[in-house]
Amino acid sequence: MPAIVLVGAQWGDEGKGKATDALGAEADYVVKFNGGNNAGHTVVVDGEKYALHLLPSGILTPGCTPVIGNGVVIDLAVLFEEIDGLTARGIDCSKLLISANAHLIPSYNRTLDKTVERFLGKRKIGTTGRGIGPTYADKMSRVGIRVQDLFDENILRQKIEGALDAKNHLLVKVFNRRAITVDEVFEELIAYADRLRPMVTDTGKTLVDALDRGEMVLFEGGQATLLDVDHGNYPFVTSSNATSGGACTGSGVPPTRIDRVIAVAKAYATRVGEGPFPTELHDEWGDRLRNVGGEFGTTTGRPRRCGWYDAPISRYAARINGVTDFVLTKLDVLTGIERIPVCVAYEVDGERHEEMPMTETGFHHAKPIYEYFDGWTEDISAARTFDDLPKAAQVYVNALEAISGQRISAVGVGPSREQTVVRHSLLPE
Ligand code: IMP
Ligand code: MG
Repeated sequence: MPAIVLVGAQWGDEGKGKATDALGAEADYVVKFNGGNNAGHTVVVDGEKYALHLLPSGILTPGCTPVIGNGVVIDLAVLFEEIDGLTARGIDCSKLLISANAHLIPSYNRTLDKTVERFLGKRKIGTTGRGIGPTYADKMSRVGIRVQDLFDENILRQKIEGALDAKNHLLVKVFNRRAITVDEVFEELIAYADRLRPMVTDTGKTLVDALDRGEMVLFEGGQATLLDVDHGNYPFVTSSNATSGGACTGSGVPPTRIDRVIAVAKAYATRVGEGPFPTELHDEWGDRLRNVGGEFGTTTGRPRRCGWYDAPISRYAARINGVTDFVLTKLDVLTGIERIPVCVAYEVDGERHEEMPMTETGFHHAKPIYEYFDGWTEDISAARTFDDLPKAAQVYVNALEAISGQRISAVGVGPSREQTVVRHSLLPE
């Protein structure tokens, strides 16, 4: 019966991979419902490090069925590269299921993603350049190409023709690039059809049937709350719904079936790409968080922007996602900092705001109002219960819990699966 949604509370890279992987041990299905290979989950299992971009973390758990839902956009080259890479390391990928309704990322959308970013110049979004935005744009414009189109060659050709119609004008006349032919796109995509076919099914039905049988389904959100196209810092967002509602639209499982929503938040904050970031640090503290926390992108290798914990963002995430539990990650990165600042509210044009400002302009003007907490110097990486943590770390976690709008049920104290302090079970009672 239990359906659990797991999302990022901030701007991504909160350590969702580790949390999903831990829950995945219990889950019968792990579902990716949004985004594509713009994601980067680093999961450490038995000292082995895995960087996943497109596949759900559940792929690493024997017995678990990983599902790529209809809300995902798929780069087939990346999909099979990732499958082959994991298979070579002894991971069984044969259970993977893919929605017939998921959209494909043809290579022209990778080209467009990068070209458009260059043309935007100063106004660029800082995308991952994987073709995510143009593919979701095609989906909404109803010129997208879906997984199921690979199984009808006539339809596939027609759809490619339809998609290229406007794109070739854009590529040739605006961006000064060569036109793309229907044949080259057809060959690029059809090459994967036979390998893909056995994995493709009506995944919405599969999942609801599983819930009816009393099995556990875990929905793994890509990106995070503030990167959500509707609820994030638009336009500095990704092109999908990364908040909990996306788990329903992106999988075909209705809202009445969801039991729990877990949001993962880092004990500080990071962001890649452009866009506002009130607590961002441009000094040696930012460098310290980046170096100690290993804050470099899994997907792009870009150094992440770093700042202190931002409670208004957590409260916003709690509200938008209907969070039942927070998982606080990377607490160990703060070890050794004497006084830890936490943003408790913003000052926006001379006024105190406890909540996210209504407008993007307001958020751009938001200056953090800090409260300071005593740090700790003890190594906390071996802590497994809350009592194992030094008093000051306990006070810090309790303070974040009090100002973040929901209970903090688990705390990460190191990169591997076991390095977690569990306060409340994340599984439904
Ligand atoms: P896109 O998703 O490639 O279109 O990029 C849009 C914005 O989302 C950029 O700021 C990216 O850096 C950011 N983004 C996309 N995926 C992730 C992720 O998995 N973690 C963190 N940021 C991401
Ligand atoms: Mg990531």
